[in-house]
Amino acid sequence: MRLIAHISDLHFGRHDPRLVDALLASLAAAAPDLIAVSGDLTQRARRREFAAARAFFDRLRPTPMVIVPGNHDVPLYNVVRRFARPLGRFERLLGADRGACFRDREIAVLGINSARSLTFKEGRISFAQMEQIVRAFAADGKAVLKVVVIHHPLAPPEGSPGLGRVGRWRPALAALRQAGVHLVLSGHHHHGFSGELEMPAGAAGAVLVVHAGTAVSTRTRGEEPNSYNLIRCDGARRVTVAVCTWNGGRFAEAPPRTFDYAGGGWRPGSKGVPS
Ligand SMILES: [Fe+2]
Ligand SMILES: [Fe+2]
Repeated sequence: MRLIAHISDLHFGRHDPRLVDALLASLAAAAPDLIAVSGDLTQRARRREFAAARAFFDRLRPTPMVIVPGNHDVPLYNVVRRFARPLGRFERLLGADRGACFRDREIAVLGINSARSLTFKEGRISFAQMEQIVRAFAADGKAVLKVVVIHHPLAPPEGSPGLGRVGRWRPALAALRQAGVHLVLSGHHHHGFSGELEMPAGAAGAVLVVHAGTAVSTRTRGEEPNSYNLIRCDGARRVTVAVCTWNGGRFAEAPPRTFDYAGGGWRPGSKGVPS
C-alpha cells in the first residue's frame, strides 16, 4: 500500500498563510510516501514566489516529491525571460531534475512539463514527451501502478465539459495507453475531481484521471473550497481518492471514492478505505 498526497495550484504570491500552515499540518499527519505537485507553484513566476514555494517544500522534507510546473510558473510579462529561459527560475529554485520521477516496488511516478512559453493556456505535450512516457515505464511490471503527473488535464472534470484539455491530448492518450499508465494527476482548473477518462473510439483500456483543487491560494473557483487529495494505492489493483477540504479550521478528509482495476479498465469499487 502506498499513500500519495496530490497537491496543486499553490499559487505562492496569492496564497493564504493560514492555509499553508494547515496544509503542512495535514500532510504531516497523513505521512504520505510521496507528494505529487501538479503545477502552478507561483502566481507570476516571480523570484520571491519561487522562494516561498521552495521554503514550503523544504518543510516537507524528507518526503519524496514529484513536482511539475504549470502555466503560472512561466513568466508572463518579462518577454525575454519568457522565451529565453521560460522555466529558469523553476529549475534554479527547485533543481533542474528535482522530482522528475519516483519509483519503488509498488508505484512508478513520472512528472511531465506541459507549460509552454507561447500563450497556450491549456499547455501542450510534445511528441518527444510522449516517447518519454512510453520509455519511462517500459521496465515496470504489471503489478506496478504507473502514474503521470501533469499540470494540464487530459480530460475536463465531470460536469464541466467546456473546460480545456492539454494540447495534443489525443496522441498523448494513445501514448499513455501504450505505456500502460493507470493514473494521471492534474490541476489547473482548480476543481477537485476523479473518474475514469472516456477514451476516444477504438482506444483500448482506460486511465483514471484525478484533478486537485487549489490547495492554499485565494484563487478558488465558485463555491469550491481549497482542497488536496489523498490517494491510496494497492499496487495496480485498487486506488482510493479522498478529497481533503478546507473547512475553515483544517483540511478534513471526505469519504474516499474507490476504483478497482480489472480487464484493462477502472470500475467504481466498494465504498470505504481498502483493507
Ligand atoms: Fe492554477
Ligand atoms: Fe494553470
